[in-house]
Amino acid sequence: MGKIYVFDHPLIQHKVTLMRKVETKAKDFRALVREIASLMTYEAMRDLPMVDVEIETPMEKTVQKKLEGADMAVVPILRAGLGMVEGVLDMVPQAKIGHIGLYRDPETHKPVEYYCKLPVDLEKRRIFVVDPMLATGGSASDAITFIKERGGKNIKFMCLIAAPEGIEALQAAHPDVDIYIAAKDRQLNENKYILPGLGDAGDRLFGTK
Ligand code: PRP
Ligand code: URA
Repeated sequence: MGKIYVFDHPLIQHKVTLMRKVETKAKDFRALVREIASLMTYEAMRDLPMVDVEIETPMEKTVQKKLEGADMAVVPILRAGLGMVEGVLDMVPQAKIGHIGLYRDPETHKPVEYYCKLPVDLEKRRIFVVDPMLATGGSASDAITFIKERGGKNIKFMCLIAAPEGIEALQAAHPDVDIYIAAKDRQLNENKYILPGLGDAGDRLFGTK
């Protein structure tokens, strides 16, 4: 079973609180999403495999550590996942970027796919799927299914706010996928929005409402 990591780092929690506030405008909201994604990436990379490498300093030869080299791909779920990409790239600038376009049908709350473009060598990469919100879990589950159908194997999911229902659904659909969460919230409302949540992440990022 994939692991679930809920970050309790004070810097992350503080920034999540600021991001949630109704008076936080798009410019600050975007900056906070990026910063939180960056801090989470730093934490989520703790288990990256390392190898020994011999280097020479100005003083002498020495054996030191470097990353083993399984290259990374970050795959935002459009639209709102885009807000997290720069934050991940701040930590791992060499990552390749894929895109998956999904929106929730307002009536059925089920995800509808409209775009998918992924790096070709997906099977070799450590893949981080990013989306600020895990509500019913439908979008994340479908996105990960698309990635697996195109060869992706080593997949992790990173979100800012998750509902218990979404965590359960994603774990059931993809038990091999680790889930990284900045804050686990109470529940979904009747329209499948997260409570207390932050509202519509896409609208808040892009100022569309
Ligand atoms: C939001 C969010 C997730 C999805 C989560 O996107 O960014 O992708 O809802 O909900 P779920 O877990 O119930 O699937 P939305 O569908 O509103 O599209 P948008 O990013 O284009 O606004
Ligand atoms: N999508 C959002 O943007 N917010 C929610 O609370 C649920 C789904």
